Amino acid sequence: MLSQKTIEIVKSTVPVLEKYGKDITTCFYQRMFTNHPELLNIFNHANQRQGRQQTALANTVYAAAAHIDNLGAILPVVKQIGQKHRALGVLPEHYPIVGENLLAAIKEVLGDAATDEVIGAWAEAYGVIADAFIGIEKEMYADAKEQEGGWEGFRNFVVDKKVKESDVITSFYLKPEDGKAIAAYQAGQYLTLKVQPESEEYTHIRHYSLSTSPGKDFYRISVKREDNGVVSNYLHNDIQEGDIIPVSVPAGDFVLEKKDAPAVLISGGVGLTPMLSMLHTIAEQQPEREVLFIHGALNSKVHALKEEVAQLADSHKNIHSFVVYSEPTADDREAMNFDKEGFIDAEWLKSTVANNQADFYFCGPVPFMKMMYKILTEWNVPAENIHFEFFGPASELKESTVTA
Ligand code: HEM
Repeated sequence: MLSQKTIEIVKSTVPVLEKYGKDITTCFYQRMFTNHPELLNIFNHANQRQGRQQTALANTVYAAAAHIDNLGAILPVVKQIGQKHRALGVLPEHYPIVGENLLAAIKEVLGDAATDEVIGAWAEAYGVIADAFIGIEKEMYADAKEQEGGWEGFRNFVVDKKVKESDVITSFYLKPEDGKAIAAYQAGQYLTLKVQPESEEYTHIRHYSLSTSPGKDFYRISVKREDNGVVSNYLHNDIQEGDIIPVSVPAGDFVLEKKDAPAVLISGGVGLTPMLSMLHTIAEQQPEREVLFIHGALNSKVHALKEEVAQLADSHKNIHSFVVYSEPTADDREAMNFDKEGFIDAEWLKSTVANNQADFYFCGPVPFMKMMYKILTEWNVPAENIHFEFFGPASELKESTVTA
């Protein structure tokens, strides 16, 4: 139990840390990776370079500290991060390392303002926050291992099939090397892969949404090749059928809810992967549920998995598919293989969906996500009917759009 005094010190210094938040966490990461370079096997170097993870961790520590006397208020956030931590393999023994280096960074950046009393209070508070994460993650580790087909940590999977879906997206079908059962998952969840390209000193871990419905003897992910993306280029160029990739049990809290309300699945670019998993799942499990599958892409060249979606729409009367191209090619115009030119805007979305009580799911690049969130909230879609997944630290979207 924290004393009232400690709680007061922590809460009253949150604004100071917020002010220096980025400096502190940048300094923290530099320190931590110097003292513990082995952690570079877990952290995403691309996020580090872009400063994304720095901001994500800082914001969460402040949010937690501001609620230090009632951590239950941020439980959903702890659970969401816990899912990622579990999938990455973050362990209880890692927490003191983060704590020690974070406190040292606070001291370094704040200088004299960080008195022994302030540092002591934050050390205690960090301990409480870390215990909350460790407790939740312990349950998640147990669930991952004990469920049918589940396992601990990373398990070797063989690339059974590699299928090019568009100029930039390729699917990988993964089967367990041991040939045994695999854990079930919910539509919308992601799979976490650990790879080490030959040129790299450390392992790289990435999350990719599962792109088909659960209940099969394989997992499928569909990966976009990113410019300078270490892992996506390695998967596209070097990984071949028959190769082995270590994978952890599927995770994530962006999942399809089994409601009766019509589902509207909106995606931009490679954000279509979790939506496609949801689409297959509705087709198989809720054949009476109306579903609108709205996909925005540049044009047909980079429009992945279009035949798969078209086939689902053709063979299921409850599925309606809409294609939006921002830069259709001359061939696209001739074939008229799209429903709208430009971007998904409020007017078009409202007239196409015509029901703001539907259940909305969306995923795509940041500007697209911001726009969808704005359109849906301004259209008075109930908050519990708005679900989204952001590829990258989720707080990045929340910071800009869902500011509490
Ligand atoms: C991701 C917070 C402890 C490793 C994250 C994210 C947050 C966060 C907010 C971003 C989640 C998202 O993607 O939406 C925290 C807090 C911690 C803590 C508040 C302490 C109380 C740790 C520890 C480790 C760790 C002890 C392991 C040494 C990671 C990694 C990621 C991550 C590797 C993925 C992002 C990346 O690779 O850049 N954490 N974390 N975290 N965390 Fe933690």
